[in-house]
Amino acid sequence: MRGAKNSIYKRWHSLTISPAKVRRIWKHPYWVEAGIFHDISCGTCPRFDAEKPACSIVFGSPTRKCAAAAIEANLNDVAEKSTLEIGFGTWALARNLIRRAGGTWTGVDLGQPKESESRIGKGGYGHAADIPFPDSTFDLIFGIQTFEHWGQRVNPYMPPSRYEDCMQEILRVLKPGGSIFLDAPMHFHGNEMFIMGDVDKLRELFDDSKWEDVVVERWRHKYEPLERFLPPQHELDVWPEEVTSYPKEQIEEIQKNGSAWLATFKARKRNG
Ligand SMILES: C[S@@+](CC[C@H](N)C(=O)[O-])C[C@H]1O[C@@H](n2cnc3c(N)ncnc32)[C@H](O)[C@@H]1O
Repeated sequence: MRGAKNSIYKRWHSLTISPAKVRRIWKHPYWVEAGIFHDISCGTCPRFDAEKPACSIVFGSPTRKCAAAAIEANLNDVAEKSTLEIGFGTWALARNLIRRAGGTWTGVDLGQPKESESRIGKGGYGHAADIPFPDSTFDLIFGIQTFEHWGQRVNPYMPPSRYEDCMQEILRVLKPGGSIFLDAPMHFHGNEMFIMGDVDKLRELFDDSKWEDVVVERWRHKYEPLERFLPPQHELDVWPEEVTSYPKEQIEEIQKNGSAWLATFKARKRNG
């Protein structure tokens, strides 16, 4: 689905999202455990409509459908929690779900005007490596399809962020025992670790002395009975520019046989 109809469905889904309804959809374990991975295969996903057969989330690309499903599954139970969304852009789904579930939503995005101050309960300017809030402010910090961009150059004057600095900053503003939830498409775009689907390297960002309960959800990693999905050509064209530390053959192999999927990285900040 494309264009105006797609936008209308996406908006409608955000406007009508109900925590009670999505809690019902996602109440049973929806994954199969494989070490640190939780695999959500399309064929057994609660959002799979076997009659069609298709994903019952009707808007967006295949990985965007997974992003909507992952938000429904992970952000529906935040009553009383103070949450921070990094890179909130214009998609209101997570914000609406959190507010309706009784949580507080605050956002920072470097795409916002610099003079737009971020305050608790409101969105404004902020950078993943420089979050304008005091230590130990939030119970939950999350980002939807933004993680993969932190390590990219934003403009000629702003160098790419170091992921280690962003993770350190997140730890600073997260309360002890607080959680993180970051999703990102693999084999799609962004920093080279995401294009190459290098989950091992991404996992290293979660220092075990500071984080616990680290889980990586793999959405659409097993896409059957649905179709393989690769990004559009204009995204594929920039892969060689972005990917500089991996062999060329590895990129070619992904382009030939790979399929884009969505990873969500979840962890808890250790107490003390
Ligand atoms: C692809 S958009 C996703 C927006 C929204 N989360 C969504 O899913 O529709 C990425 C967003 O992340 C923001 N962003 C990128 N790097 C960032 C950083 N280092 N700190 C804060 N926001 C960032 C961009 O300005 C943009 O709004």
